[in-house]
Amino acid sequence: MIVLGSDHAGFPLKEEIKEYLKSKGIDCTDVGCFTPESCDYAISAQKACDKIISGECELGILCCGTGVGISIAANKVKGIRACSCSDYFSAKYTRMHNDANVLCLGARVLGSGLAIEMVDVFLNTEFEGGRHQRRVDEITAIENGEKLY
Ligand code: RB5
Repeated sequence: MIVLGSDHAGFPLKEEIKEYLKSKGIDCTDVGCFTPESCDYAISAQKACDKIISGECELGILCCGTGVGISIAANKVKGIRACSCSDYFSAKYTRMHNDANVLCLGARVLGSGLAIEMVDVFLNTEFEGGRHQRRVDEITAIENGEKLY
């Protein structure tokens, strides 16, 4: 199950992504927002990320105007590795190398064609593990207040 969320700026892109996932038969749940009325991205970020941490959803796609605010908020949730991406390569490698569990997209930055390609590669790329596992573990250690040096 994929979780989707946005603020008002990301709402149109989130809706397009939802339609795309449905057309591909990919199960998704939407935590809002549900209208283009102004709202705050941190609320949707937390709602979506809580579903990943609880195990209800595997991966998340979050949209705001830039992709940045919602990624900063998402990364405050323990266990979340959210990446704000504006290019295909980063969307792929953030899965392969960072084991990112949330992709954040800027609706005011990206065309929906590129955004959907990025969603596709993000959802269909596996974490490589190996030396990257150690690095992800270091990120978790920082999250847990440990010193790495
Ligand atoms: C909303 O106007 C905008 O600030 C928000 O969508 C996002 O871009 C913040 O990072």
